[in-house]
Amino acid sequence: MSFLKLNDVTFTYPPVEGDIDENGEQIVPSPVFEHFSAELPSGFVSFVGQNGCGKSTLMLLCAGRLKPESGSVTLLDQNPAELPEEQKNLLASMIYQNMEFETEDTVDQLLSFVYANGNLKGSAKGIRSENDLLSEVIDVFELKNVLNRGLTHLSKGEIQRVLLAFSILYGSASVFMDEPLFAMEQKQKENALSYLKEFVHKTGTTIYISMHELDLTKKYADTVLLFFPNRDMSLGTPDEVLNRDDVEKAYGVPYAMLKNHEDLNREYLNNLSEQLGNSENKE
Ligand SMILES: Nc1ncnc2c1ncn2[C@@H]1O[C@H](COP(=O)(O)OP(=O)(O)OP(=O)(O)O)[C@@H](O)[C@H]1O
Ligand SMILES: [Mg+2]
Repeated sequence: MSFLKLNDVTFTYPPVEGDIDENGEQIVPSPVFEHFSAELPSGFVSFVGQNGCGKSTLMLLCAGRLKPESGSVTLLDQNPAELPEEQKNLLASMIYQNMEFETEDTVDQLLSFVYANGNLKGSAKGIRSENDLLSEVIDVFELKNVLNRGLTHLSKGEIQRVLLAFSILYGSASVFMDEPLFAMEQKQKENALSYLKEFVHKTGTTIYISMHELDLTKKYADTVLLFFPNRDMSLGTPDEVLNRDDVEKAYGVPYAMLKNHEDLNREYLNNLSEQLGNSENKE
């Protein structure tokens, strides 16, 4: 049995009111996925591919936060989109890309709340020590200095580290993390990934993570799902999947320029194509 199965999934975002073409006609978006099928394993699985290739949409479908218009999603033999809220969260929790909050509670209060109201009922041993998981997580994600502050008053990188702590403390069977390393420092990214990987292997939790850092994916992921611009994908170990040809195909730029670049964001890729265009013109 595969951990996660998508069978013949078609999904299209709804038309946006006011989005009209030059003839004044409503623009109807084309499907992001059309008759798409895949089987994904358990473990620590990284989604990589350029902006707009479908990483977030696939995560939202897999975690039951979006419903396909046809086809099915099966996660641990269940359809997450059909479950009541709490059961859905216990099966699959999610860190969204660009999450926003309105709460005035402190980080300390929120961590305790998430811990007490999830699968672990507020009590679990750390995976690296005899300490309680809560104090281990505060330590690993460097949260001591922000415990008494409100979540809405933190920097972006600090918020991301709090979200990572939430997802560990809630204790879902699977966690979908959409660009959780965003705005974190290199050392913190490495610390976080090394802990997440250890957590996956020691607890049997499955984590799907999307990120733009190819070097870190290579170093930490068990499995990589590489997205090509045409929605084809390649699945396998980092060594199998992140080979020169396929990475070039996925990003549409020469490998040497991607290899050591940790942040494959839209701006960087656009600059790169411009530079390449310019140098080609000169020759
Ligand atoms: N809310 C939305 N409404 C309409 N179209 C959307 C919406 N969100 C994403 N899309 C489109 O769906 C496609 C897949 O986008 P998605 O956000 O899944 O890509 P991504 O790989 O997560 O990109 P990024 O690296 O920028 O986060 C893109 O063509 C995008 O423009
Ligand atoms: Mg995304």
